[in-house]
Amino acid sequence: MTEAESVTNQGVTGKPAGGLDIARIREDFPILAREVYGKPLVYLDNAATSQKPRQLIEALVRYYESYNANIHRAVHCLGEEATAAYEEARAKVARFINAPSPECIVFTRNTTEAINLVAYTWGRANIGPDSGVLLTLLEHHSNIVPWQRLTAEKGASLRYIGLTEQQTLELDGLENLMDSRTRLLSVTQVSNALGTINPVQELAAEAHRNGTMVLVDGAQSVPHMPVDVQAMDCDFFAFSAHKMLGPTGVGVLYARPELLQEMEPFLGGGEMIKRVTQEDAIWNDVPWKFEAGTPNIADVIGFGVAIDYLSDLGMENVRAHEMEISEYALRRLRQMEEVIIYGPPDPADRGGVISFNYPDLHPHDIGTVLDRYGVAVRAGHHCAQPLMHHLDVSGTVRASFYVYNTLEEVDVLVDALGQAHAFFSNDTK
Ligand code: ALA
Repeated sequence: MTEAESVTNQGVTGKPAGGLDIARIREDFPILAREVYGKPLVYLDNAATSQKPRQLIEALVRYYESYNANIHRAVHCLGEEATAAYEEARAKVARFINAPSPECIVFTRNTTEAINLVAYTWGRANIGPDSGVLLTLLEHHSNIVPWQRLTAEKGASLRYIGLTEQQTLELDGLENLMDSRTRLLSVTQVSNALGTINPVQELAAEAHRNGTMVLVDGAQSVPHMPVDVQAMDCDFFAFSAHKMLGPTGVGVLYARPELLQEMEPFLGGGEMIKRVTQEDAIWNDVPWKFEAGTPNIADVIGFGVAIDYLSDLGMENVRAHEMEISEYALRRLRQMEEVIIYGPPDPADRGGVISFNYPDLHPHDIGTVLDRYGVAVRAGHHCAQPLMHHLDVSGTVRASFYVYNTLEEVDVLVDALGQAHAFFSNDTK
């Protein structure tokens, strides 16, 4: 019996893990059958982007082969079919995050664009010299830079919630950071760099008591766990399709309906208007007011198929599977000499992301050697340079798991890591 099997009989050879048949799931992902440098691909870079199931790939082909047309403007059959499929995908997104209606869902290019949309529209109208924006040290650059630009332009303040020693949010003293000037708290639900899960529901309640609006970056949560934006009671919520089995080029902004009504459009052009004269224009209804130009029709429809796939698996099961993999990976990594692991120790407090380092080795060197063993990880600052600065490292090696990963793949990672460490240790002697 391998160490993996001694932990659990699930998830290794197709036996259920988190109620899921992983071997069966893997058959849906053609890319998982490929080799890298003669070794089976072990894809552990899911926080960067996930792989795509055959069902999605086939849906894209079906769209282009049988009903490719522009939407909302054609009177012909293809246009009507494409419009119906696009709007059905919006409804699926709304149901997936328990938004009150599809009209709360705006399609963007990615999470970054969704956050920028809020900064340019709501932010420009509501942040002034006497305002403040509150972030956390766990944010991705996409939830930092738009607010740096806005607060610099408006002369507003920008503050950060710091971290405890276990790299969870330091909430003692929050009242000193969030004051009557704080107009917005913008916080990630799960750290892309360390996997830390933040208590966004409690933070939203605290923020609202203070009269502060709340944006939640859900890029690393929606793909991996059940999310309910109404229970969370956030004002804005942003995420991307490509990290949840969907195509690249599609993001989502959820906003409370009354906010979308009040907000000015982001981009001007076709589709976002009802009427245009030489002098001015009248905006379309929400959410189309925020979708100027021809959208990414095929990929939005494909996103709907990815959501169907995840819904069929059940997000509780996805979460259970990732917790099992993370627990096992944490245990194996802790047994390795010298490895420094970042983030909370309990898998219940983290998503399926494990960041680590060897004290004297550059993460890029480790990542490059792992690649030679077929293991794909991300190495570097993970678009979270303020966090890396806080940790006093240039970067980390990050393994991130998804629904098709197995405990055996964790073994491959650990073995390859041992080889990499041995290689560089000998090299430096
Ligand atoms: N945000 C993506 C990551 O964390 C790209 O890797």
